[in-house]
Amino acid sequence: MARQIGVLTAGGDSPGLNAALRGVGKAAMGHYKMHVIGFRDGFRGLMENRTMALDGGQLSGILTVGGTILGTSRDKPHKMPVGGKLLDMTDAIVGNYHDNHLDCLVCLGGGGTLKNALRLKEKGLNVINLPKTIDNDVWGTDTTFGFDTALSIATECIDRLHSTAHSHHRIIVVEIMGHRAGWLALGAGIAGGADVILIPEIPYDANSIAESIRERSRKGRPFSIVAVAEGAISRQDLAAMTAAKLKKKAAAGLKDARKMDDTEADAAELVWADRTLRLAQQLEKLTGLEARLTILGHLQRGGTPSAADRILATRLGTAAADLIAKKRYGVLVAAHGEGTRPAKIEDCAGKVKTVPADHPLVVSARRVGTNFGD
Ligand code: F6P
Repeated sequence: MARQIGVLTAGGDSPGLNAALRGVGKAAMGHYKMHVIGFRDGFRGLMENRTMALDGGQLSGILTVGGTILGTSRDKPHKMPVGGKLLDMTDAIVGNYHDNHLDCLVCLGGGGTLKNALRLKEKGLNVINLPKTIDNDVWGTDTTFGFDTALSIATECIDRLHSTAHSHHRIIVVEIMGHRAGWLALGAGIAGGADVILIPEIPYDANSIAESIRERSRKGRPFSIVAVAEGAISRQDLAAMTAAKLKKKAAAGLKDARKMDDTEADAAELVWADRTLRLAQQLEKLTGLEARLTILGHLQRGGTPSAADRILATRLGTAAADLIAKKRYGVLVAAHGEGTRPAKIEDCAGKVKTVPADHPLVVSARRVGTNFGD
């Protein structure tokens, strides 16, 4: 009997998702003669059994298209908003997996999706993950599809910001996606020649940044580009956040501890809220140069995937079909050199691939005079 596989895309969308769906689907249906069902909107669609047939030409013409034809969501099986409540819908998902007679579920997603896939694996389902995210922070794989496209977009934006910063003698702080890892800000910052690069892995001091900007002014370059990852944090905010978190933990641990008020309890979140804007304002004060903030936001995730992402997604997608054919389940299809390598989901889930502070790219950037705020 032909093998039946399900596919879904979960988490934030990423250029190359459609190319990967096409890779899995065409290899599975065309080469291995399997049946493929798409589930809409991530784990929510699997929970609600909302399907999309993929055998009628739906996979043609999508290689170059951004987004995902299946739709996506950040819904988690064990904490799904249903009727105004967060419910554990894992059993419904397991039920639909069996009702659809699936031999395997292929989940295209990042770190969150990997954790959700692990939960389903622990319930006895055969799952395979494909690593996508513009953040490039999935553990166990060399890279993720979506990253290369976002890198080009962010780099082009920095190029464009350079000429206006130069003309107006301004500091332009440009916020780049990446809450937990700074790969995108680091890469785009280097490729775009940013004067300062701030990433979550290297807490910064605004005074150090300001001094490097003043030094540029003294040398006749009274403008600067500061590339900041969303999750970059100052040393002061990091200390405040750590203290607030410890306090929250302590309060939760004491049975009769007075309830912390919102301001205290959420201090950790609040310091993140407008920090890039605060940094721009701080640098304006400290340097005497005008500062502007540009948030690249979801522009980085939209549109046509780059050639490299289309190739990577096709490579990983077809490798997923090969693994299913061999009944090699429970793995992340990791990019490894020029090939792929199956990595056990439990070895990768819950871990984040962050930028080591002494990574060769950080070292190179420092060699050309880039300031990291430390
Ligand atoms: O996880 C990918 C990512 O693009 C992050 O870089 C970013 O912080 C986040 O998604 C934004 O999520 P949303 O699309 O839910 O606003």
